[in-house]
Amino acid sequence: MKIGFVGLGRMGLNMVQRLRNDGHDIVAYARKESSREPAKAMGATTVASLEELVDQLEAPRKVWVMVPEGEATEETIRELWNLLSKGDTVIDGGNSNYKDSARRAKWYKQKDMGYIDCGTSGGIWGLKIGYCLMYGGEKEIVSQLEPVFKTLAPKDGYLHVGPNGSGHFVKMMHNGIEYALLQAYAEGFEILNAKKEFNLDLPAIAHLWNQGSVVRSWLLELAEDALKKDPRLESIKGFVEDSGEGRWSAKEAIDMDVPAPTIALALFERFRSRQDQSFGNKFIAALRNEFGGHAVKKQG
Ligand SMILES: NC(=O)c1ccc[n+]([C@@H]2O[C@H](COP(=O)([O-])OP(=O)(O)OC[C@H]3O[C@@H](n4cnc5c(N)ncnc54)[C@H](OP(=O)(O)O)[C@@H]3O)[C@@H](O)[C@H]2O)c1
Repeated sequence: MKIGFVGLGRMGLNMVQRLRNDGHDIVAYARKESSREPAKAMGATTVASLEELVDQLEAPRKVWVMVPEGEATEETIRELWNLLSKGDTVIDGGNSNYKDSARRAKWYKQKDMGYIDCGTSGGIWGLKIGYCLMYGGEKEIVSQLEPVFKTLAPKDGYLHVGPNGSGHFVKMMHNGIEYALLQAYAEGFEILNAKKEFNLDLPAIAHLWNQGSVVRSWLLELAEDALKKDPRLESIKGFVEDSGEGRWSAKEAIDMDVPAPTIALALFERFRSRQDQSFGNKFIAALRNEFGGHAVKKQG
């Protein structure tokens, strides 16, 4: 199938490679020539503008967008809206907020153009294993993309989950769950690491637990790999970014009165990880000193 591809970063480039490996015809765009060159080496036709990308495709055109969520996606989707015509379809494979996706789908509908919000999971391993795809959109529109979904995903790894917005909603929750899982493993390994008297071999325990234990998982396999490289993680700073889905998951839980304490706490732990000194902890120490005379440690 011939398809335009916008965004050739960690995700987009590997997806182009997987599509090329299966014989799809790709017209690829990213702003910088250095981002486009590797796609060219994979046999994609590379173009220096979205106008050129649209010109290179035959109607009904399909364009997959894989750029950072927020402003970059908004600009790209808006520019494509101006350039594309009735019958063409855009697939946003990035981690967009589902409300933005539902709004963008409405714009596209105004011009009788298709829109698909496709949550994409698999990270840098997707090239080898395939990408897990969860997408929202109209049935007739998503069915046109079947050959592309089939190539990108592993067996049984793609699903039409509902109307526009639902693909990115499901992806948001996938990532919300990921926050909580990472936090649980992190706390468990922190306690193991703290038990100095046993001098526990953390990579060996991660490996062991991956052999039939109830907590075995792909994340634990990745933990095993990371701990083999650096058993006490001494080379890494405990600073954890977030890219939106954890916040959105917690907000959705609040809006719908759904209890989700573990996801919310995992999100707040990430915020905590970015503080050298927490004002809140200073506050507690100061008050304990005020009411009970408990000692405070002074800043050095
Ligand atoms: N990394 C992951 O594990 C992962 C997993 C699932 C989903 N996602 C989602 O997938 C999307 C892409 O992530 P990524 O990790 O591949 O990001 P990335 O490595 O930062 O790559 C972004 C790509 O988009 C291009 N780009 C940036 N701004 C652009 C713009 N305004 N117009 C056109 N192209 C633009 C960049 O190249 P130029 O600067 O040359 O334009 C680059 O090729 C994001 O929405 C992300 O949340 C990522």
